[in-house]
Amino acid sequence: MAFRLYEPARVIEEQGDGYLVAPHPQPLKDPPGILGSILGSRYSLIGTWTEDCYESCVTAFDLMRREVVLVNTPEHIKYVMVTRHQNFERKSPQMRRALEVLLGDGLFISEGETWKRRRPLVADIVHKNRVPVFGRTMEEVTLSFAQGWAAKPQDEEFELTAAMAELTAEIISRTIFGHDLGADAARQVIDGFSTYQKHIDNFNLGYWLGWDEGWPIPHGPVKNRAAKMVHDVIEKVVNTHLAGGGEEGSMLDLLVKRRQRNPELGLDVEALRNEAATIFMAGHETTAATLMWAFYLIDRAPWIEKAMLEEIARVCGDRNPTIDDIDALELCKAVISETLRLYPPVPLLPRQAREADRVGDYEVKKGGMVMIAPWLIHRAHDLWDDPNHFRPERFMNGARINPFAYIPFAVGPRVCAGLNFGQSEAILCLAILVQKFKVKVRPGYRAEPVCRLTLRAADGMPVTVEPRARAA
Ligand code: HEM
Repeated sequence: MAFRLYEPARVIEEQGDGYLVAPHPQPLKDPPGILGSILGSRYSLIGTWTEDCYESCVTAFDLMRREVVLVNTPEHIKYVMVTRHQNFERKSPQMRRALEVLLGDGLFISEGETWKRRRPLVADIVHKNRVPVFGRTMEEVTLSFAQGWAAKPQDEEFELTAAMAELTAEIISRTIFGHDLGADAARQVIDGFSTYQKHIDNFNLGYWLGWDEGWPIPHGPVKNRAAKMVHDVIEKVVNTHLAGGGEEGSMLDLLVKRRQRNPELGLDVEALRNEAATIFMAGHETTAATLMWAFYLIDRAPWIEKAMLEEIARVCGDRNPTIDDIDALELCKAVISETLRLYPPVPLLPRQAREADRVGDYEVKKGGMVMIAPWLIHRAHDLWDDPNHFRPERFMNGARINPFAYIPFAVGPRVCAGLNFGQSEAILCLAILVQKFKVKVRPGYRAEPVCRLTLRAADGMPVTVEPRARAA
């Protein structure tokens, strides 16, 4: 047997009559030690947790010269994310350093006064009131994407994460930039983002050795070029809008109008570009990962897929699902909620303490790290029945879910600004595609969830698609 420095945890998955234990790495019995922690975290940020972290607790561990305080009870999550939000609003230095070239002072990594000024602006343009209008773009793009699937030979295997990212990138690109961006420019943005993300390293040695701000990362020509590809396109569209052109009603149009109405916000071209880039990045990978996992789960739980088809037929008959159907598609919505519980696209939310603090019995030093982990709180044995089982019904029939035990969109003032957009988009895309296609995961394939920046399947998700016979 070949010698490997690091052996990932075994993946547990079990399927039976009417039940599915969704794939997850087996929790470790003992802490992995320093080398195991480093190699394990670089392989996947969800594979190195011990059994006792899968219940509500506040605990701490050392990684090199840092203490990390894991905050994993609803009560203490509320303390960090709401009560003491101002002390814990900073993202970890590795995240800030990794994204700074691409996003500048964009909302995702900004803090303090900049974040406070910009948050209402971004929250307003992706607000739930705008979802019905943006929903038409979601419908249009998904239907045209479905035509591509319909034209595929049925035995043609492809990778589902990339396909879903193509769909959601097209949706967010059209909502931000409008419909007349042009295929080449759209491709340039999408390629620039994906190259940048491929080259992100989210391990900053300097931080773990004691430098509170981490070490500056040499970004190298590939990443710089990728960021420039994105910036060039966005700046051009911003300038078109500033000169009075551009599509009315697009997110960029709304940003530019806001700049004109509120000059005190000081939104120059770079600031507009950074916020547009932030929405693009935050707004497509997460939804794509959610859709990919939802398709895996319903393929493994055919009784749920059957019930979804019945619901879609009952609500929509033979027509396409639309954004106006979302509320009536209760099971489709519950499937997305349960997918986000089992596979939160952002499984870890590390925060850096501005000042020393106390969480539970633990002192957090100034500059220290507090870890909020949707991955762990969503699977806490004492908070959820059979937490590894796929059971969308948990979210149905007026179920009361503790908002601090279910945090796929984070919680508190820094909650995902695009929550309603992302949720509606995921439900709508799923309903449209499920109505038209059976997505078949390769027989015998077992998904291994791993977390690098978002939660993905280790070797991608090989699938084929088969058009469904539509009722006359
Ligand atoms: C299923 C889809 C989505 C999920 C699970 C998700 C999840 C999250 C999470 C967990 C955060 C907080 C990250 C942190 O605190 O470190 C976040 C922030 C954010 N998300 Fe989403 N997101 C989704 C879709 C979207 C969409 C569609 C948009 C835009 C249209 C969006 C825009 C943002 C923005 C701007 C932030 C930064 C908010 C701030 O720091 O104030 N997200 N998202």
